[in-house]
Amino acid sequence: MTTTARRLGDSPPPELLDREERIPVDELRALQLRRLQWSLRHAYDNVPHYRARFDAHGVHPDDCRELSDIARFPMTTKADLRENYPFGMFAVPRERIARVHASSGTTGRPTVVGYTATDIDNWATLMARSIRAAGGRPGHRVHNAYGYGLFTGGLGAHFGIEKLGATAIPISGGMTPRQVQLIGDFEPDVIMLTPSYMLTLLDEFARQGVDPRSTSLKVGIFGAEPWSEQMRIEIEDRTDMHAVDIYGLSEVMGPGVSQECVETKDGLHIWEDHFLPEVVDPLDGTSLPDGQEGELLFTSLTKEGLPIIRYRTRDLTTLLPGTARPAMRRMAKITGRSDDMIILRGVNVFPTQIEEIVLRTPGLAPHFQLVLTTEGRMDALAVRVEARHDTPAGRREPAAAELIRAVKETVGVTVACEIVDPDSLERSVGKLQRLQDRRAR
Ligand code: DLL
Repeated sequence: MTTTARRLGDSPPPELLDREERIPVDELRALQLRRLQWSLRHAYDNVPHYRARFDAHGVHPDDCRELSDIARFPMTTKADLRENYPFGMFAVPRERIARVHASSGTTGRPTVVGYTATDIDNWATLMARSIRAAGGRPGHRVHNAYGYGLFTGGLGAHFGIEKLGATAIPISGGMTPRQVQLIGDFEPDVIMLTPSYMLTLLDEFARQGVDPRSTSLKVGIFGAEPWSEQMRIEIEDRTDMHAVDIYGLSEVMGPGVSQECVETKDGLHIWEDHFLPEVVDPLDGTSLPDGQEGELLFTSLTKEGLPIIRYRTRDLTTLLPGTARPAMRRMAKITGRSDDMIILRGVNVFPTQIEEIVLRTPGLAPHFQLVLTTEGRMDALAVRVEARHDTPAGRREPAAAELIRAVKETVGVTVACEIVDPDSLERSVGKLQRLQDRRAR
């Protein structure tokens, strides 16, 4: 089981691609510049927050003469959206907003985003493009288990499925036994859900005695949370379908900002006709060249309802040249969010690094939690991980020792490891919260 065993899928026939997916890079850059100038002007003219920020920064939309001028403009953060709660960032009269979505708001006021009818149509086009890049085709049946509601996942994917000319199965998240039954009955070709919820579904397949390799599923489109290359191998091995990555965030649009192509599975192509990406140093915000890892920023190029300028995503990645869609740059799989990074005795640790190791360690199931505590005056990290059903009791201690050794060797920190019984950790139905912070304040 190595990455070299990875199968690749078929590229869509060129006539199925959007025109923008095929244009030469010069044409794309010219389109981006025109749209960027429009977007800056639209934000400045219609959103008091942007006008005040640009003025305070001493920049004006007319100062944008080439794409690199974007770096002269101020960045936007989640706090800016919160301060303008609920509708203060909208750039059109509220009556022109066809739909709102919002973040869950577990860490404060939710952030609210709004879309005009044109925005919804563009979003559907990009989601259709994403599903097609993943291997979905008109006429396919798509089991959509992203949550419907204020979360952008369910409805965002839904409109894309319909736009593609596929059949939407709008099951949303939860009622897991029924999901397995309907996969058997409706015979979908494509499934869309978070990777952690896919693991929950796989448990349910096992409980019902159904072999997931025997289903009609050909492609899984996984996103909304970080997942590792090793998780791709785990899911592909257990299901015999392609597992590809989809990325997006509400503030920028929702799912479908970037998508991995099934024929290359080498990171996510950013739909650059609608979004301008940048990578900056997460500490001081200075621009970094393509190829260097840092925090991802996005500027929307076409959004009417909520133009977003240099939005700090907190997500860490690297910009790479295009492959399957040559003009559009790729972003490497997200390493993690700067907020989720654990700094343990000076070493940066990401949950995805631990995930890679858990999945490579024989005897361990893909279900684990990270628990941060205080020991004396130091932070301590424990990995609580389930044994696999077929792991003999005598294998547990050696597996724990192997995990501790691998974490020390590859990440460079000492962790504790507790092996727990199969099926004892809480399962995800959407976005998974891996980290439990129990440190003394
Ligand atoms: O999670 C949108 C989405 C729905 C994307 C369905 C893909 C599929 P938010 O709830 O606003 O929107 O959360 C956005 O989730 O900043 C990342 O930290 C994380 N995220 C989303 N996709 C990925 C991914 C949706 N493929 C936040 N890999 C983002 C890693 C992801 N992290």
